[in-house]
Amino acid sequence: MLLACRFIRQSVSATFRLNYIEQTRSSNSATCPRSFILQHTEVVSDPLTPEIRLRLLTQRCEFWHQKPELWPYGDPYWAIYWPGGQALVRFLLDNPQIVRGGSVLDLGCGCGAAAIAAGMGGASYVLANDIDPVAGEAFKLNCELNSTKPLDFQAENLIGQEVAPWSLIVLGDMFYDEDLADLLHDWLGRCVGRHGTKVLIGDPGRTQFASHPVRRHLRQLAQYSLSESTKRENYGLTSSGVWSYEP
Ligand SMILES: C[S@@+](CC[C@H](N)C(=O)[O-])C[C@H]1O[C@@H](n2cnc3c(N)ncnc32)[C@H](O)[C@@H]1O
Repeated sequence: MLLACRFIRQSVSATFRLNYIEQTRSSNSATCPRSFILQHTEVVSDPLTPEIRLRLLTQRCEFWHQKPELWPYGDPYWAIYWPGGQALVRFLLDNPQIVRGGSVLDLGCGCGAAAIAAGMGGASYVLANDIDPVAGEAFKLNCELNSTKPLDFQAENLIGQEVAPWSLIVLGDMFYDEDLADLLHDWLGRCVGRHGTKVLIGDPGRTQFASHPVRRHLRQLAQYSLSESTKRENYGLTSSGVWSYEP
């Protein structure tokens, strides 16, 4: 997952660089995330979840080839549809009974695809959460794109905080860092223990996930082959799974 962001960071195109510095500095798009996202992403849908369209950073976008220093925000995790998120979304779209009528938290929502899938499935309340506020703008645009009723977004770090009585918490590709995985393991355990919250995790088999003690508390529910384009952009990953967390 992080490899894709690293790839973006490492991609440099000398051709556009000087022109682009001037354009970016003279426009106000960098100070308005909404216009920036509209200008610098492409509307696409992945073959694994064709029901959902997303504004993403693709190879056809100028910034894919740009020097990373010119990117005016933090790492654009929200501009990528991560393999773990894709599996989770496929699972939610195929099993809407899991979300129907319940309250759903999409923790580390990025582009917000899982929150959108929960909204499509008939959840009574959906909160998309990500510590990157720019993800909130991308999420709003993606809701509009999918004609989903406006869903709430919160940029606060909820991990470690007092747990709320969610029916379901979904996490796409959130186990990419060992320290974060430790925190999640503890916090999710409390969510389940205190409120009986159901937890679904999407992950393509990242090392930090596969080797983490959390794995002893997971039951695999599904496994999906990734699309050719996702495989190309994720160096060697070929499939992605969905697990239920049952501590
Ligand atoms: C790999 S991306 C996954 C995005 C999305 N779930 C998907 O599968 O496409 C991880 C996301 O988690 C967010 N994140 C990292 N730490 C977080 C935290 N403590 N609370 C909420 N979001 C966090 C990042 O900003 C990023 O958008």
